[in-house]
Amino acid sequence: MTKNIDWANLGFGYIKTDYRYVSNYKDGSWDEGTLSTDETITLNESAGVLQYAQTCFEGMKAYRTVDNKVVCFRPDMNAKRMADTCKRLEMPVLPEEKFIDAVIQTVKANIDWVPPYGTGAALYLRPYMFAYNAVIGVKPATEFQFRIFATPVGAYFKGGTTGVALRVPDFDRAAPRGTGHVKAGLNYAMSLHPVVEAHKQGYAENLYLDSATRTNVEETGGANVIFVTKDNTVVTPKSNTILPSITRRSLMYVAEKYLGLKTEERVIPYSEVKEFKECALCGTAAVLSPVGRIDNNGESIHFDYNSQGIGEVTKKLYDTLVGIQLGKIEAPEGWIRVVE
Ligand code: PLP
Ligand code: COI
Repeated sequence: MTKNIDWANLGFGYIKTDYRYVSNYKDGSWDEGTLSTDETITLNESAGVLQYAQTCFEGMKAYRTVDNKVVCFRPDMNAKRMADTCKRLEMPVLPEEKFIDAVIQTVKANIDWVPPYGTGAALYLRPYMFAYNAVIGVKPATEFQFRIFATPVGAYFKGGTTGVALRVPDFDRAAPRGTGHVKAGLNYAMSLHPVVEAHKQGYAENLYLDSATRTNVEETGGANVIFVTKDNTVVTPKSNTILPSITRRSLMYVAEKYLGLKTEERVIPYSEVKEFKECALCGTAAVLSPVGRIDNNGESIHFDYNSQGIGEVTKKLYDTLVGIQLGKIEAPEGWIRVVE
């Protein structure tokens, strides 16, 4: 029985669900993995994750479709990205089949927490890995734990009819090259102070520029960015210091193959942003959230969506992507993994 929750008004927060998946890596191999009801973790005081932040995560969602199936969107892409991150962090790779099996087990075990179709909510899945054993010299741990928990979520950004507001901060932030979600270093931990400042000033997020030259658009703290030009080309920043968003890659495919639009992944100088007619943030959590305004040291760029709250091309992209995820539009081969 689906849980009795006010799905339509659900925010983006942690809600404890029934089961989480746990697998341990020791002596060079992963154990079989199991489902656990215990949401707590006890660690040695010198565990590698606590001392040197040897840890990473992924983010993905399970959806209930129009024909009442439960599906995941491109979990193989999350498995591949996490493998890249693990290699960069000297962590063991979890084989792709094991990752996907763990995802399916976690969703099945928490099936009552998958929001009903049409509520706008989804079951967010957080696969993550961390260094378990004690280390004190600066070196990788030898034992690791991989987990997935599930939590039902609603919208990440609430832009209303004007879209979300961003600011260009005086802070640098870049993801280490070739990685996914790395928590410490230049990524999430370092984005916490600028995002607190942004929220105090009334902005939803920071739009970071590249750290090397501070001239080109990168991404925000929790989402990539796309723009639409006046002649309806979908443009997104080319950079190897942003998180390689699966949603963004999917949107660029949808733009080209479903909507017949031109797409470009290229360096985007901030000076060009005022020429664009639409801007939106994309990601698993963000989905595709329209941006209404960007402020940069006293200068504002406005995107006017004629009180629709969303640009024309952004709306088509959103409807097609979400339509694919919810089983209303036929998906490209391999994008939808049916859980049950
Ligand atoms: N950029 C950052 C910093 C993120 O945290 C996320 C969220 O996962 C994204 C981009 C979007 O990536 P994806 O579309 O794979 O969820
Ligand atoms: C996601 O969209 O999955 C993310 O990782 C964003 C997150 C920081 C909430």
